[in-house]
Amino acid sequence: MKILVINGPNLNLLGRREPEVYGTMSFDDYYQELMQRFPEVEFSYVQSNHEGVIIDELHMAWGRVDGVVLNAGAYSHTSLAIADAIASIEVPVVEVHISNVFARESFRHHSMLSAVCAGVIVGFGLNSYALAVQSLIDRMKQ
Ligand code: DQA
Repeated sequence: MKILVINGPNLNLLGRREPEVYGTMSFDDYYQELMQRFPEVEFSYVQSNHEGVIIDELHMAWGRVDGVVLNAGAYSHTSLAIADAIASIEVPVVEVHISNVFARESFRHHSMLSAVCAGVIVGFGLNSYALAVQSLIDRMKQ
């Protein structure tokens, strides 16, 4: 099974960025853990601060991977273009948030992406990614 993990804007700063919200571990370190936890999964990973790059990656995922784990960062709350890209491709996308966005500012309570995603995992720290991967594996088995 092939899974693409996409991280959006500012998530390259994980570990240093607002550690009280996002923790102290870098995503590179977490990604190693994630790959070890799911040895049966062939992972690929991309991070971009640019909306268009995220859209290009979603388009390229179609036909190439079995599922996408997407943390679009702040674009989750604003991007109709990313929502359209998710709706356009026949690949299940799981929306992920590290923090519990519903316990934060009201502008984080709405996601443009949730309705077109296979599901949403919110607020479990970096473990949100592992939960999303597990959900894609379980979905494949159904
Ligand atoms: C985030 C939540 C977003 O509101 C924020 O803009 C991020 C990270 C999260 O993982 O908790 O950049 O997606």
